[in-house]
Amino acid sequence: MTAKEIRQKYLDFFASKGHTVVPSAPMVVKNDPTLMFTNAGMNQFKDIFLGNSIPKFNRATDSQKCLRVSGKHNDLEAVGHDGRHHTMFEMLGNWSFGDYFKTEAIDWAWELLTEVYKIDRTKLYATVFEGSAEDGTALDEEARTAWLRHMPEDHVLLGNKHDNFWEMGDTGPCGPCSEIHIDLRSDEEIARIPGRELVNTDNDDVIEIWNIVFMQYNRLADGHLELLPNKNVDTGMGFERLCMILQNKKSNYETDVFSGLISEVESLSGHKYSEGGNVEVAMRVIADHIRAIAFSIADGQLPSNVKAGYVIRRILRRAVRYGYTFLGFTEPFMCRLISRLCQDMGEAYPELLAQKKLIESVIREEENAFLRTLDRGIRMMDDLMAKSAGSKVIKGVDAFVLYDTYGFPVDLT
Ligand code: ALA
Repeated sequence: MTAKEIRQKYLDFFASKGHTVVPSAPMVVKNDPTLMFTNAGMNQFKDIFLGNSIPKFNRATDSQKCLRVSGKHNDLEAVGHDGRHHTMFEMLGNWSFGDYFKTEAIDWAWELLTEVYKIDRTKLYATVFEGSAEDGTALDEEARTAWLRHMPEDHVLLGNKHDNFWEMGDTGPCGPCSEIHIDLRSDEEIARIPGRELVNTDNDDVIEIWNIVFMQYNRLADGHLELLPNKNVDTGMGFERLCMILQNKKSNYETDVFSGLISEVESLSGHKYSEGGNVEVAMRVIADHIRAIAFSIADGQLPSNVKAGYVIRRILRRAVRYGYTFLGFTEPFMCRLISRLCQDMGEAYPELLAQKKLIESVIREEENAFLRTLDRGIRMMDDLMAKSAGSKVIKGVDAFVLYDTYGFPVDLT
């Protein structure tokens, strides 16, 4: 199944269950002081959950562009070093606004995974909230009962507040959740250690795929929970990870979500992803970051020196730095990936096609400016090194001036 088919099947499935397919909200958030970027599919529905606005329909589904690079959910520094972390990712979701609740949400998740995507049911585990004395919340019996209609008892596990109570931020809508995990290990490994012992232990091959949140509460600034006016459902499944599973790959970057971008970087740089090491890391960083940057610009957030714009600038510079250091790029290259990105994602996200020219020119300008910074910094470093040839040590104050006044990254120094 291609990535496009996987995304479409999700939306079609929930449309067939009475959900309205809605477009992704912009990735850049303009009207919520608690959030800079959309970090979950439910963000655009926050006011509906809180009872501040009336929904036009009571069931919705979409594929939402998310960015986790600031605040409570922040993955930036991990990106590139493994095959699973991203800045921007797509979250497949379905929502009930005061309509269906736990049993239907669980039944449909099970039906989609095992009958539409045909995932081996014996490899799946579900976790259920065990309750929290601190918050005065009870074990989620309703979710547990619903799962036991599909899975044997030893595949339905209890989880604590850290893993099984989802919150949008320090305040706002939240609730107990049920996660679905999959065991991707070989039969021999499974025979040795049952998957249930590895759920939520950071094992690379026993991983969460879908989070089903039962939005019942609002977390107030003083830490207390108040009941929301309605009982809602908010689900989120990591699209890139789902593609990795269904396409039988070991890393998200080997799926067709990223392989087109990576082969473009290969042909521009003359390097091969299969070289491994820093070349592989750099290609993952670039393939990931170009999506975050392009979609931010398409959504109206240009790189700048402040706030959200600065976050985007930092992501772009991180990619340029990896390209410059490990792939030998000394000319703008990120802007040359946009055509390929449009080819892969333009159909699902038409805003990318509409803004293609702007995206390319903004990125080219940023790259040029940063490459000049790097060039100047390297010449200054050469001078400093020549001056300190005897001691082989550069003063901290010089490294600071290079960074603070000339923008030269400390890790390159
Ligand atoms: N809002 C939930 C999450 O982001 C589904 O995991």
